Amino acid sequence: MLSLEQVKQSLESAGQSHVLQFWPELSEAERERLLQELSQLDLQGLKEHCEGAARAAACPAASLDHCIEPVAPESIGSVRTSDKASVAQWENEGLLQISENRVGVLLLAGGQGTRLGVQYPKGMYNVGLPSSKTFYHIQAERIHKIQELAERKYGSKCTVMWYIMTSEFTLAPTEKYFKENNYFGLDSSNIVMFEQRMIPAVTFDGKIILQEKGKIAMAPDGNGGLYQALVDNKVLEDMKKRGVEYLHVYCVDNILVKMADPLFIGFCVSKGADCGAKVVEKAYPAEPVGVVCRVQGVSQVVEYSEIKPETAELRGPGGDLIYSAGNICNHFFTRAFLHDVAEKCGQLKQHVALKKVPFVDTCGNQVKPTKPNGIKMEKFVFDVFPFSRNFVAFMVVREDEFSPLKNAEGAATDSPNTARNSLLAQHCRWAIAAGATLLDEHGNTIPPPASVSAGDNPPARCEISPLVSYFGEGLEQLLKGRTLPTPLILDNERAKKLQAE
Ligand code: UD1
Repeated sequence: MLSLEQVKQSLESAGQSHVLQFWPELSEAERERLLQELSQLDLQGLKEHCEGAARAAACPAASLDHCIEPVAPESIGSVRTSDKASVAQWENEGLLQISENRVGVLLLAGGQGTRLGVQYPKGMYNVGLPSSKTFYHIQAERIHKIQELAERKYGSKCTVMWYIMTSEFTLAPTEKYFKENNYFGLDSSNIVMFEQRMIPAVTFDGKIILQEKGKIAMAPDGNGGLYQALVDNKVLEDMKKRGVEYLHVYCVDNILVKMADPLFIGFCVSKGADCGAKVVEKAYPAEPVGVVCRVQGVSQVVEYSEIKPETAELRGPGGDLIYSAGNICNHFFTRAFLHDVAEKCGQLKQHVALKKVPFVDTCGNQVKPTKPNGIKMEKFVFDVFPFSRNFVAFMVVREDEFSPLKNAEGAATDSPNTARNSLLAQHCRWAIAAGATLLDEHGNTIPPPASVSAGDNPPARCEISPLVSYFGEGLEQLLKGRTLPTPLILDNERAKKLQAE
């Protein structure tokens, strides 16, 4: 830890002396905590960070709208339009890589979940499924199952490493939660949690914001902080040691996420890609998803906050959105590519977010601002795409793969309700496709799958544990010809009973 004198000098030369304004009033413990916090900051880079943030907020980067083009449809692979043989070949390739321990997953879980408005990590959120499982729990079970499927196909016991990027906000509760739940049956030595960096929020004139008299307002450096965090925490070395060559990076809040999706992995590997992104057809022009497109000829993602509404609304002659390849924050990277970009993390673009940041005023009063007063600088995980030598995009079916939780209950979109419904609707489709007749709570037969779509009210509460089925496979032998009342939780125990009947 640095001494008070050292910190004082650095703050002075960065024009940030006000940070110690309340020092005389602080208790010993508060002083120690503040010194600790300041010692962890990049004090050398502080002046540039604060001035840079103020500059960036004062003159926003020129919009990219005039130099973007859609990705040519033929350069996007698609699960829907590819022939069955190719799909099977990609899936087998993915399972093979998994069976050889060459695939890991990396969860981006450092965000604060501001829109959802909970005080704990989003991964611990329970959207109200019959089983009450949380995102972390579901994801752990999907890892279990995909290991089992790869093992069964290729006959070798395997591990999908789970790397979890957290932040100061999410690390301790996430660790505690995993421990309390016995790592959901996974081997704890195959789960690596690490922390991304935090950076100070600053005012529009470039002054660090004090959240309390002895505490700086800090925020994680965006999900693109991943690349610095990989270096800080020697994650690439860990991957190398364990032989993990491919990483599936994903965000925490998509209830339908296919962990280490063998089809996506196999597609990317077969195409020799170093970097890839899953996309879905955008649902509506203003949907808050980034779009995969080309900027001056180079494939990348333009974030929803950085594209003009009139560009997002552009339609082609057939009426389809021109910028329709919606980013679902599911990325593929080779270890070699990550190794390359780790050296370039300083070059990553900084994005400006204007936020309402609670602060103490110069008289020491707590203020909760009603309009944005602070700047948070963020890096985005997809901003490394332009460094790729062979980038591929893969279009998947929204109903099968994308239903994110962003907003609190009551919102019309991306809420706990829509997430829960998407999963239950999917599981009804699986059960019916496997030959089950599901009965609703009144004993009426549930209609066939075509009438069930994500986001709609699912016709019944039917939840299938990922331990029983990863993507609808293996259900026929359990369900064919059966009439089952709902609510139904098909977990391993119930599956065993059905088998025994
Ligand atoms: C993100 C994508 C957007 C995509 C959408 C799909 C980015 C920058 N944007 O938007 O293009 O269409 O998901 O749902 O990827 N996170 C961290 N550290 C941080 C900030 C965020 O780990 O400092 C994590 C979050 O915990 C979350 C993920 O990154 O798992 C996405 O973050 P979020 O802020 O929810 O991104 P969106 O705005 O929804």
